[in-house]
Amino acid sequence: MSGGAGGPHGAVPDLYDDVALYDLLHAGYRDDLAFYRTVALDHPGVGVEIGAGAARVTPDLARLAERVVAVEPSAAMRAAGAARLAAHGLDDAVTWRPTPLEEGPSVEPGGYAWVVAPFHVLNEVPPLEGQDRLLRAARAALADDGVFAFDAFAPPNDVSNDVPTLEIDHADAEGRHVTAWRVRRYDPVRQTLVSRWVVDVTGADGTVVRRHARLVQWAWHRFELERALRAAGFGRVRLFGDLDRRPVGDDLVRFVGLARP
Ligand SMILES: C[S@@+](CC[C@H](N)C(=O)[O-])C[C@H]1O[C@@H](n2cnc3c(N)ncnc32)[C@H](O)[C@@H]1O
Repeated sequence: MSGGAGGPHGAVPDLYDDVALYDLLHAGYRDDLAFYRTVALDHPGVGVEIGAGAARVTPDLARLAERVVAVEPSAAMRAAGAARLAAHGLDDAVTWRPTPLEEGPSVEPGGYAWVVAPFHVLNEVPPLEGQDRLLRAARAALADDGVFAFDAFAPPNDVSNDVPTLEIDHADAEGRHVTAWRVRRYDPVRQTLVSRWVVDVTGADGTVVRRHARLVQWAWHRFELERALRAAGFGRVRLFGDLDRRPVGDDLVRFVGLARP
């Protein structure tokens, strides 16, 4: 999660303090929108979005729900998200909350039709106490017939430690050239994936401005996730192998879950 000015990693800012980079990497990602729209459509009422970020998913939810409570600890992401909602004329449909669910009573218990955690938000919370508190708070927020929907990644098998991968290589709207390299390192004992980005913006005169960003995430194993959900009070847990609701199997892409009280 965001650590405010300068981020939690010394001189390297947290990815979520650099909304321009986050948007470059992910604003066009749409694969999960249909899944989360279905959750809001099937469960009319007020919902909670955990880790709403820069409101990539929130407008779709806000159009379908009675109201959305958007929980987002990063001030930079909240500001970008609020601006995006205003541009869609949806600002009245969304209430922002800066305090993570696991850190305090940021939503009232019991009344919500759905709680969602789109795009690996469950991978952002450190084990074990933080994860347990978050899942218990998600369970507590739900109405008896409510649902908690999420996606989360498993231990990755495609990480070449410390090998840079080119993720962005294009000219931006101002005619500057932008390249972004990502360097990942996965520690299977700590289940920790550390990503670093090196972003170079080259101007017309050849001047290069470089910036860095960093993100730490935790992978989930299957039964660890199922047990954590059950321990948090979810009685009915359905886990899928991707957003298309395939069974969890050898072709696992990411865990996608629907958990009910
Ligand atoms: C991968 S981004 C996803 C943002 C947005 N859901 C999307 O799909 O574009 C993860 C978001 O979760 C937020 N986050 C991190 N830790 C969190 C926590 N404990 N509670 C709520 N949000 C958190 C981050 O600040 C970030 O905006």
